[in-house]
Amino acid sequence: HSLHEFLQGLPKCEHHVHLEGCLTPELIFQLAERNGVALPDPATNPAYVSIESLTARYDRFTSLDDFLSFYFEGMAVLRNERDFTDLAWSYFQKAHADGVHHAEVFFDPQVHQSRGVPYETIVAGFAEGCRRAEQELGLSTRLILCFVRHLSVSSAKQVYEEFVQHKHFELGVIHGLGWSSTEVGPPKDMFREIYASAAEKGIPLTAHAGEEGDPTYISAALELGAQRIDHGIRLIEDPELMKRVAREGILLTVCPLSNVRLKCVPDVSHVPIRRFLEAGVKFSINSDDPAYFGGYILDNYCAVQEAFELNVMEWRIIAENSVQESWIPNERKAQLL
Ligand code: ADE
Ligand code: ZN
Repeated sequence: HSLHEFLQGLPKCEHHVHLEGCLTPELIFQLAERNGVALPDPATNPAYVSIESLTARYDRFTSLDDFLSFYFEGMAVLRNERDFTDLAWSYFQKAHADGVHHAEVFFDPQVHQSRGVPYETIVAGFAEGCRRAEQELGLSTRLILCFVRHLSVSSAKQVYEEFVQHKHFELGVIHGLGWSSTEVGPPKDMFREIYASAAEKGIPLTAHAGEEGDPTYISAALELGAQRIDHGIRLIEDPELMKRVAREGILLTVCPLSNVRLKCVPDVSHVPIRRFLEAGVKFSINSDDPAYFGGYILDNYCAVQEAFELNVMEWRIIAENSVQESWIPNERKAQLL
């Protein structure tokens, strides 16, 4: 508790937040109205009776896939460029208030495209939110396009083609690629060809792995070229792989409140924070889907502090690794350190 003010003031980098995961129940109902989008019928899904009932339902996720069904339903209210900008801007304001100086944010274009929203609308809307955050809040930002594991490889290849054709990496609009959504089930290497092509172009790559899935999901992601692992908490089950991750300085983007809400761990004290520190595994602390998991980044920092009582030196290691492993030029790192 005593370190709360220190944690608030600590310059933070966020590496793992889904912009669609910043869509609060308030904003879902508001945008449904604004865009004339029908939410699920409360007669069949009573969670959608009100903002309050939807918020209450988020306390009872049973798994990643249970959460994802709400996450994909919620984001159906996003239709126009302005919706994407408003959503990104609402996140950046909150992040700024929490002491975030640099944010790398994910988005899921395939899911919006499957509802008929064009790629250009999604990217232009989110990019405008990033531009505004840089200009008005002094944040640096990075947009990371995520492929989703519950849709077809061919839909991922289509969005990758659009990304390549628009030269969005070369133009500095999108700075990296990731994958997310359902972990256990689809082939571990479903994005092999896309990642091989992107790696050849020098595009930074990350991947969700080792959240619900065992450590072989992590080794598969590394084999495909991921330079970072999102979540990665199950790494502790493979000591050899853990040594390799430490040795190679691969960053894990850990999301403690997410892990608790999605029943990956019984409580924050079971997130392997202490184990990672002791093994020299680099990690950052992040919010994942703050509108769904009951807290933004500072809440995650504070929850870790309450569970582990880290000292100031340990927090400095975490903060410094977060800066060093950000996908930004050295000049910007120097400003953040
Ligand atoms: N998409 C949004 N949040 C996610 C998570 N925690 N795991 C996998 N995919 C996601
Ligand atoms: Zn995530």
